[in-house]
Amino acid sequence: MESDICDILVSEDAIKARVAELGQEISDYYRNEELFIIWIMNGALLFTADLIRNITIPVKIDCIRVENRRNNRDSEYQPDFRWNMNLDIEDQCVLLVDDIFDTGKTLLRVVRGLKELRPKSIETCVLLDKQTDRPILETPNYVGFQIEDQFVVGYGLDFAEQYRHLPYIGVLHPELQNPPEWV
Ligand code: IMP
Ligand code: MG
Repeated sequence: MESDICDILVSEDAIKARVAELGQEISDYYRNEELFIIWIMNGALLFTADLIRNITIPVKIDCIRVENRRNNRDSEYQPDFRWNMNLDIEDQCVLLVDDIFDTGKTLLRVVRGLKELRPKSIETCVLLDKQTDRPILETPNYVGFQIEDQFVVGYGLDFAEQYRHLPYIGVLHPELQNPPEWV
């Protein structure tokens, strides 16, 4: 498993330190409010679990699932959603959490959907912001790390549902990025 990774881009310690900073920033920004965190399954699992333990104000949590295809850079492609939230976000301060901002379609599409549920406010937070020539100009409100445009796994991020459990963000060997199930 370790040998599948050719480079560690963000170490476990660096993630821990940055997530603590983000937790503090978010707690300061929303002080005197109750925060409602909505996280996107499965990728934001580890990030959300660590982030909420660094938030010092009252927080409620719910999640949604988004189906992404591999070729999501196809300009016609729109992610599919499964709205499986149990809680009501009307008049709540919502922070939407995802693992990575790549084309930006997922996060911005979910923001649009959540706005229809009339929250008091909605902000976004991602662990990673990939530097690409994306056509979308909006960027997340909170970003853990800016990374170069390469395929990363670990700390929730997968390739073909593997590697999510790694405690760091790593780059997968290029020759492992095309197993048969993706063709
Ligand atoms: P976007 O809609 O293009 O911003 O895609 C975001 C989603 O694509 C993320 O939630 C991830 O599931 C997936 N994704 C994008 N880049 C990577 C990567 O480098 N590694 C693993 N998953 C990625
Ligand atoms: Mg994801």
